[in-house]
This record gives sequence, structure tokens and C-alpha cells, in this order.
Amino acid sequence: MKALMLTAALLLTPLASAQSLYDQLGQKQGISAIVEEMLYRVGGDERIVHHFDGVDIMRVHQLITEQVCNVVGGPCEYSGESMRVSHEGMGVTHADFNALVEHLIVAMEKHEVPVAAQNQLLAKLAPMYDDIVE
Ligand code: HEM
Repeated sequence: MKALMLTAALLLTPLASAQSLYDQLGQKQGISAIVEEMLYRVGGDERIVHHFDGVDIMRVHQLITEQVCNVVGGPCEYSGESMRVSHEGMGVTHADFNALVEHLIVAMEKHEVPVAAQNQLLAKLAPMYDDIVE
């Protein structure tokens, strides 16, 4: 009986520790901190910072946090514009997009998000590429 229970416990362990992507990102608070870190790095990146001249960065922080929280299955509503409308006429290039993603990855690394979870988030953002890049 004891052996059976031990086996059952071992079999159930991976299930019990399987966290949702939202949890692995640290929920709303973790996502907010990751987006803040990403935007801070964008602010120091002369390749792309010009796109943010005159932009209300607190508002963009709030909206990207909501959006990421929403796409990873968290309890958040996204209240901003569509990606197509909000990036229209900005002239974001493939290289600009990659630069921002680079900062997002470093931000996730700093917050110790497991690599598999990092890749899951990137896969959820990838379909937005065509609406953002011109
Ligand atoms: C996966 C990639 C990206 C995501 C998820 C994303 C998400 C967002 C969101 C949610 C907003 C707010 C929308 C609104 O105003 O209602 C926004 C605005 C903005 N994004 Fe992005 N974005 C991405 C890539 C980029 C890139 C690569 C650039 C430029 C290098 C960029 C530049 C901007 C700027 C400048 C704004 C502010 C627009 C304004 O307030 O006038 N974004 N983005």
C-alpha cells in the first residue's frame, strides 16, 4: 500500500507542479515588472528609441501589460487599440521588431522565467508581427 501511494505521488508530481504560462510569468505583477524592464531597455536602445519620442510610456506600459496578461490566459481585459491601428505609419522594421523582442527576452531572463515559458509567450506574440511591421 505504501509503495502504491509512493508511486501515485511520483506520477502526480509533474502534474501538480505544471504551472500555467500566466503563473510562470509571475502573474499580473510579474508581467508588469517584465514589461517595465523591457521598456526601460528600449529607452536605452538608440536603434529604436526614436519611435517612442513623445509617447506616454506609462500608458504603453499599462497597455502592453494588459495585453500580455490577456494573451497568456490571465484575468485581464486589453483596453487598447488593435496592433494594426496603434503601429500604423510608424515604419517599424523587421530589425526594430527583433530589437524589442531581444529586450523582452532579456527582461524575462532577469525575472527567471523558464526558457520554455519564454518561448510560449514569444509564440503568442509572433502572429502580431504582420500588423506591427510595415
Ligand atoms: C510583439 C511586439 C509588440 C507588442 C506586443 C506591442 C504592443 C503595443 C501595445 C499594446 C501598444 C498600445 C496600443 C494603444 O496605443 O492602444 C503599443 C504602442 C506602441 N508601440 Fe508597440 N508593440 C510591439 C512592438 C513594437 C515595436 C517593435 C515598436 C517600435 C520599435 C513599437 C512601438 C510602439 C509605440 C511607439 C507605441 C505608442 C503608440 C502611441 O501611443 O502613439 N511596438 N504597442
